[in-house]
Amino acid sequence: MNSNILQDNINQLALLAAAIILLLTIYVAGKYIKQMKTDKSTGELADENWDGIGEYKNELPSGWAYTFLATMVWGMWYFIAGYPVDGYSQIGEYNEEVQAYNKQFESKWANADKETLQAMGEGVYLVQCAPCHGISGDGMGGKAADLTVWGSAQGVLETIKNGSKGLGFPMGEMPGGLLSGEDAKAVAEYVANHMQGEKPAAFATCASCHGEDGKGMGGMAPDISQYGTPAFVKMVLEHGKKGYIGTMVSFKGRLTPIQEKAVGTYILSLSRGE
Ligand code: HEC
Ligand code: HEC
Repeated sequence: MNSNILQDNINQLALLAAAIILLLTIYVAGKYIKQMKTDKSTGELADENWDGIGEYKNELPSGWAYTFLATMVWGMWYFIAGYPVDGYSQIGEYNEEVQAYNKQFESKWANADKETLQAMGEGVYLVQCAPCHGISGDGMGGKAADLTVWGSAQGVLETIKNGSKGLGFPMGEMPGGLLSGEDAKAVAEYVANHMQGEKPAAFATCASCHGEDGKGMGGMAPDISQYGTPAFVKMVLEHGKKGYIGTMVSFKGRLTPIQEKAVGTYILSLSRGE
């Protein structure tokens, strides 16, 4: 903030104008009050008459007309030269302050440990996510995704059973019921462990869209090798989701990278009881 607002010549002009307007108002008001006491009205009456109140056909006072024109000229000047559209603005100053603050925030917490991230994530979660997902993360009886299973083997099982849509990948929709029984369980474990351990044969069903390595074939489908990590939550936050349950808004640009990581860490702690 500029502490000395009078250094701004626009403010100086505005102040000067305010003083002139004040003086003129006092002068004109005094003049008319005096006139009302002493003057007799003259001139030709207009035809209209409202309950005995008539109107004289007087010229527009030239002072008024000049002032009216002058305000137009001043308005143009103000818009083009005084405060040009791309000049200083309070919103711009606010945005710069927020950006500077976010930068400070990012560097302060760049190396936050897991507990710190989880605590920070809980704060973000309760404000930004709990209104839809519920305080406990269970999705409030089906109103939003149940985050207490999402990101775990059980979450993958539900995805295999129900399918998935609405993240907006070029591959489009993932149909439900591609696998069942032991095959589905083995694949779910494999995916939830970030594709470590022995690859179940049934994973071939998934590989046709997600790729042999699960990385989503260069952006065609989600990178499920990251399923159940803060990076996957970050991806979901940026995409938003119009799925079978309902619509989740995109949080693109609304959280800082550290906040995204923190809220991801927190919701994954929900499904793992950590
Ligand atoms: C027909 C192509 C296709 C097949 C086959 C397929 N997927 Fe998907 N999968 C997708 C697409 C596309 C998405 C993103 C859908 C969306 O927009 O929600 C997705 C999303 C997912 C997700 C993320 C869902 C979420 O809730 O975030 C998981 C996990 C997943 N797939 C696992 C699997 C597994 C396991 C298999 C094998 C049983 C499989 N997929 C088979 C196309 C496929
Ligand atoms: C406006 C309500 C709303 C808000 C706010 C919201 N969500 Fe969601 N979210 C949903 C809905 C609805 C779904 C289920 C979408 C579907 O599949 O139909 C969902 C799904 C999800 C999923 C599963 C996505 C997938 O790929 O299956 C995750 C993870 C998630 N939300 C995390 C969050 C986080 C983290 C926040 C807070 C930063 C948040 N949500 C805020 C409504 C919301």
